[in-house]
Amino acid sequence: MKDLAGKHIVLGLTGGIACYKSAELCRLLIKSGATVQVVMTAGAEQFITSVTMQALSQRPVVLSQWDAREANNMAHINLSREADACLIAPCSADFVAKLAHGQAGDLLSLMCLARPANAVPLLIAPAMNREMWAHPATQRNMAQVAADGAVLLGVGRGDQACGETGDGRMLEPYELLEDLIAFFQPKVLADQHVLVTAGPTYEAIDPVRGITNLSSGKMGFAIARAAREAGAEVTLVAGPVGLPTPRGVHRVDVRSASNMLAAVMDTAPVASIFIATAAVADWRPEHASEQKIKKDASGATPVLSFVENQDILATLAQSPRAQSGALFCVGFAAESHDLMANAQAKRLRKGVPLLVGNIGPATFGRDDNALLLVDERGVVELARDSKLSLARQLIANIAFRIRARD
Ligand code: CTP
Repeated sequence: MKDLAGKHIVLGLTGGIACYKSAELCRLLIKSGATVQVVMTAGAEQFITSVTMQALSQRPVVLSQWDAREANNMAHINLSREADACLIAPCSADFVAKLAHGQAGDLLSLMCLARPANAVPLLIAPAMNREMWAHPATQRNMAQVAADGAVLLGVGRGDQACGETGDGRMLEPYELLEDLIAFFQPKVLADQHVLVTAGPTYEAIDPVRGITNLSSGKMGFAIARAAREAGAEVTLVAGPVGLPTPRGVHRVDVRSASNMLAAVMDTAPVASIFIATAAVADWRPEHASEQKIKKDASGATPVLSFVENQDILATLAQSPRAQSGALFCVGFAAESHDLMANAQAKRLRKGVPLLVGNIGPATFGRDDNALLLVDERGVVELARDSKLSLARQLIANIAFRIRARD
């Protein structure tokens, strides 16, 4: 997906071993549709060459405020006026200190100071040794830079190039890309807490066998990501899936429908939107055997009896908070046929204001989908698209409904 199409990013590199990750970051930005202008400090040039960054960005790297190629010899002005955002990655402790004090002795710090702060956001991806990161001077400078309007993207934790382990690694390129994409999304759900269920559930028959279904969880994870991008606090209750957690999302892993219900009930009192995308098992074996059920010589097959799982969506939709309008509930319907009629009937049965229908077999495991939004007024179709794009459209639609209600 070209999530950064039309965006012009100034990618600033300062001195740090994490410069090697910025080559990959540059590639990812370009692949996402951005144009990238790389600016490097003298320190950065000690770690990676401008040749690499020029080849990846397809543009000459700007290294000095005295760059005579600029007709007006004002690279710091020209660069910052063209940009949709400046991303400093890696941002060294020294560079944070420069920003905090408004120093402007090299091209990159000069450009940061000269940029129109209201129009060109500055995003910072720090990278340094854990002691440098934890030092009060660095933390003081970070707080000052944030107070001056910069967006701090945080640091990773783990092994450091110096051999120590702790906080201060630069975030991985794919994490920075996700953060930058999220930064540009409209914050239509700021102040909301979105609770999402996703994936299948697994109902045990015995310790090694169980009943599950073909839901991949991709639609629910995309919705959690889109809600987070829209500025919401997000809790994602996930059945057994192997998907990575979207950035900034609080994930609770569960297995059975009963586990999912319990996890949902934990968060429901503070949630303002509940989106039930999970393919919750309708039934579970009445008795899960504590030991593996063995074949016996007679060839008799086991007989399973089932009990119905509690309907999580219907339970929440009937709760006093949902009834009073404090919790907006959205259901999903995975159907195999007669989508519109089944979705309309299911909306009424579940008692939710909005139900999203999709054809299960046509979407399970895929990266794309098509949705039908069913409410009291009728039906709106969201045409086939990537699940992330549909998730953003759905989030915009829910945000619109919430604003209209308030
Ligand atoms: N759902 C739920 N808890 C359940 C069953 C379903 O929260 N125990 C939610 C799903 O997450 C989804 C919606 O209810 O948002 C529809 O689920 P679905 O299984 O498609 O509908 P059912 O009510 O089970 O109807 P049927 O199986 O007859 O299609």
